[in-house]
Amino acid sequence: MRAPVLYVAVLLLVAASGALAARCPTDCDKCNTKGQCLKCNDGYALTPKGKCIACKVPGPLGDFCTNCDGNTKYCRACYNWEGEGTGVYAKNGRCERCPDPNCEECHNGSGKCRTCFRGMAISKKTGKCTNCADKNCITCDSSLKKCSWCYSGFAPNASGRCVPCGVANCHSCSAPGKCESCELHYVLMGSKCQKCKVAGCDECKPGNPNVCEMCEGAVDPVNGKCPKA
Ligand SMILES: *[C@@H]1O[C@H](CO)[C@@H](O)[C@H](O)[C@H]1NC(C)=O
Ligand SMILES: *[C@@H]1O[C@H](CO)[C@@H](O)[C@H](O)[C@H]1NC(C)=O
Repeated sequence: MRAPVLYVAVLLLVAASGALAARCPTDCDKCNTKGQCLKCNDGYALTPKGKCIACKVPGPLGDFCTNCDGNTKYCRACYNWEGEGTGVYAKNGRCERCPDPNCEECHNGSGKCRTCFRGMAISKKTGKCTNCADKNCITCDSSLKKCSWCYSGFAPNASGRCVPCGVANCHSCSAPGKCESCELHYVLMGSKCQKCKVAGCDECKPGNPNVCEMCEGAVDPVNGKCPKA
């Protein structure tokens, strides 16, 4: 008796969800209630009728185009993918590598560098991405001498030089002597690192060397202890 009712209900539900899904055109990020797209996903152009069509920007880096407006062949903005080598920017409708090969992100249009690779900054002398004076520095100012962020095991001192954390078995510190995280098998106790006391444990709970948070081999601990291998 109830089966047909359920069947109809399910059908209605399927139809309704289908209608909802059909509202926004494919490749659309935002649409109005009439189902017209207002903003397409990256890499798609909005047509006057509110549909989205893929950008077709010529050239070897054409696929990096994120915004081709109404003209699918003319790119206005290209994808700058952090950590993917020299950045990509839009120039005369195409996608190209930033003019400075050490630049990770440059401005669409002008190609002016915004961010250099790690360990580099835009030198105020040359205007180019140049290595920070300190080889342990990740982020320095345009003089290249003042560091604000150092690699693990180092922290900037008051004059912006990367100096060792100065805490035994410390992995990273916020300032010299102020450890923030310890090496494997060590646990942060205040700003020092102590040996973790749980057998088979990689990471103890900060402040408690008797409770394990992560066992060797990324195994979850049971009640703070590690299962025997
Ligand atoms: C270039 O355009 C992309 C996509 O709109 C944007 O994400 C990026 O921030 C722009 N880059 C610059 C430096 O203007
Ligand atoms: C920072 O470290 C450098 C290099 O070790 C040192 O010459 C400088 O005096 C230090 N600055 C301060 C404020 O401690």
